[in-house]
Amino acid sequence: MSADGIDPSGLKKDNPRHIAIIMDGNGRWAQKRFMPRAIGHQAGVKAVRKIVEYCAKHNIEVLTLFAFSSENWRRPQDEVSLLMELFMATLGREISKLDRNNIRLRFIGDRSLFPEKLQDKMTEGERKTQDNTALTLVIAVNYGGHWDMCQAFQQVAAELLAGTLTLEDINPQLMNQYLATADLPEPDLFIRTGGEQRISNFLLWQLAYTELYFTPTLWPDFDQDSLAEAIQSFKTRERRFGHTSEQVRTQSVSL
Ligand code: IPE
Ligand code: IPE
Ligand code: MG
Repeated sequence: MSADGIDPSGLKKDNPRHIAIIMDGNGRWAQKRFMPRAIGHQAGVKAVRKIVEYCAKHNIEVLTLFAFSSENWRRPQDEVSLLMELFMATLGREISKLDRNNIRLRFIGDRSLFPEKLQDKMTEGERKTQDNTALTLVIAVNYGGHWDMCQAFQQVAAELLAGTLTLEDINPQLMNQYLATADLPEPDLFIRTGGEQRISNFLLWQLAYTELYFTPTLWPDFDQDSLAEAIQSFKTRERRFGHTSEQVRTQSVSL
């Protein structure tokens, strides 16, 4: 295999640098067992631990997990409150553990709508782990791709008005710098569990060239073997970024 990770058969063999996951199916997992949805969410947290562990062990650089979307406020009040409590309790328990494992914690999304105590906990987690150098764990909470693009446009518009940017400065590279994921590599592999084949307002801009993987496995059942299978599928894909297959196979272009 050559230095850029392309082997002569044209298959990219490298691990994905950045994996982004829509963790879906907690509710159905519980309902199948005649249990309340809350139990499904608790089981979902356990699955998160295993997946984080796997990524840290396998030198994945960034793992982004969609934990709560900007549309999830539409759920029954009880479920929203439960998710907030679970989030708070999990953070309280896990921050030191993540730190001990050299994992950097980050949050993306509009946190202004969260209870202040929760916002403080999130900031504390980010501060405490900011210098860690193993996996970066990005939790998307009250995140929406539309929100992300709007907040980026707002920052750019403010700079235009202030005269610190001109219209000609606007291009995809510049826009990237204003998104919530500015300093992260673009996702290489997107996974959605739970059987739905949609993006549900996740990383709309950032997924432009991401390899997509959908599985019917419900999130609480998604284990390390399931992730290994998704990564294996990724490794069989030929990423062309607009080039022809021949260009990629003869390595006449750099991707
Ligand atoms: C995903 O599981 C978790 C969150 C959205 C917080 P769901 O709660 O959407 O589970 P299903 O889709 O109803 O099974
Ligand atoms: C997407 O799942 C959001 C998260 C997993 C956090 P949903 O279950 O909310 O998505 P839809 O509503 O079925 O598209
Ligand atoms: Mg769902």
